Amino acid sequence: MSFRGKSILLGVSGGIAAYKAVALCSRLVQAGADVKVIMTESAAKFVSPLTFQAISRNQVMTDTFEEKDPSVVSHIHLADHADLVVIAPATANMIAKLALGLGDDMLSTTLLAVTSPIVVAPAMNVHMYSHPAVVHNMELLRQRGITFIEPGEGQLACGYVGKGRLAEPEEIVTALAAILNRGKLLSGRKVMVTAGGTQERIDPVRYLTNDSSGKMGYAIARTARDMGAEVTLISGPSSLPVPAGVEHVPVLSALDMLEAVTSRFEQADIVIKSAAVADYRPAEASPLKIKKKDEELTIRLVKNPDILKTLGERKTGQFLVGFAAETNDVIEHAKDKLQRKNCDMIVANDVTEEGAGFGTDSNRVIFLEASGTVEPLPKMSKEAVAERLLSRIAERLAGRVGGGRS
Ligand code: PMT
Repeated sequence: MSFRGKSILLGVSGGIAAYKAVALCSRLVQAGADVKVIMTESAAKFVSPLTFQAISRNQVMTDTFEEKDPSVVSHIHLADHADLVVIAPATANMIAKLALGLGDDMLSTTLLAVTSPIVVAPAMNVHMYSHPAVVHNMELLRQRGITFIEPGEGQLACGYVGKGRLAEPEEIVTALAAILNRGKLLSGRKVMVTAGGTQERIDPVRYLTNDSSGKMGYAIARTARDMGAEVTLISGPSSLPVPAGVEHVPVLSALDMLEAVTSRFEQADIVIKSAAVADYRPAEASPLKIKKKDEELTIRLVKNPDILKTLGERKTGQFLVGFAAETNDVIEHAKDKLQRKNCDMIVANDVTEEGAGFGTDSNRVIFLEASGTVEPLPKMSKEAVAERLLSRIAERLAGRVGGGRS
């Protein structure tokens, strides 16, 4: 595992596990990383900054106002130059500050300016770890794309036995290497993602649509970009910002989406259809506003083309992923879609479940693959779902003869 050329910012907050951060720092330096350490004042009560300085061969920062180099503003400079930030150990207090966006010491202030991936390795008493406020803060941070390395179970310094022990340095190093490598996972691949809901016109002021916010599809587009892919995002109306570096094709109706998707299908290596496409559209869109006259109004609907099924019929080796938004018999319905639409994979979500499906920041999905594999995932942020999905696809493509289209 090499970290040569990588700059790692190690944040050490105040817990007894700070001594294990010394071993982590040492492993990273041995693996070739340039490690800069920021300690909180309480961390410095457990381990001396000099220990980290000797191991990292870099100055250790503890105070926001101790500007040792007048040519830079330290917290911004450190944030800008980090390829990855790891907080180990992360106390409940530091996790809360990060969740709230507080910057009242050198570490929390620097974290506010960080744009690279942040990894948090918590360590605390078992009851603190399960406190609703801590659980809530961690969930919030997961939804923002921060990665957590779960603490281990065992004898804690406070005397309790349970979950709360800082993950072992080797485990943290392995997780950091995986995060740094994900930038290459999809390099050279063309990924097409559909997102959001379609709008089916009734008249100039009314349309039929659904609750899709685009969050799931936009998270996939951002993550695919971060994994090195060339990404096209074909999206129904959404209030989300278009991810930088992604080709954005805005569409309104299912027919627009059909055209946008099929005309680009040939060039794509991976197609992920997370959009909620209307199954029906009004047979005719009235050119004028429909006037309120009768007690009842009947709008005749006609079936929209099934875009995913069309792609399944035409595919020439593209890795085709559909989503299935279900309210009952999730696996049964998803299996049917997988087969009928000739997909390589279906991502099923039960949209009646709290924290899953439409509009939420999190999702709980099941991966169903053409090989017959069915893998339920726990509830996690849509970013984390995107990461798991794209990593799985990258694995499957790497397993194909020649590593590309089958
Ligand atoms: O956007 P968010 O608020 O984050 O919500 C995410 C989501 C709930 C929209 C997403 O997770 C999801 O489930 N997307 C699929 C929604 C859907 O339309 O599911 P479906 O089971 O009706 O369709 C199955 C598949 O066929 C989907 O990949 C869909 O894009 C596709 N389809 C459906 C109808 C149609 N006419 N053409 C299609 O291509």
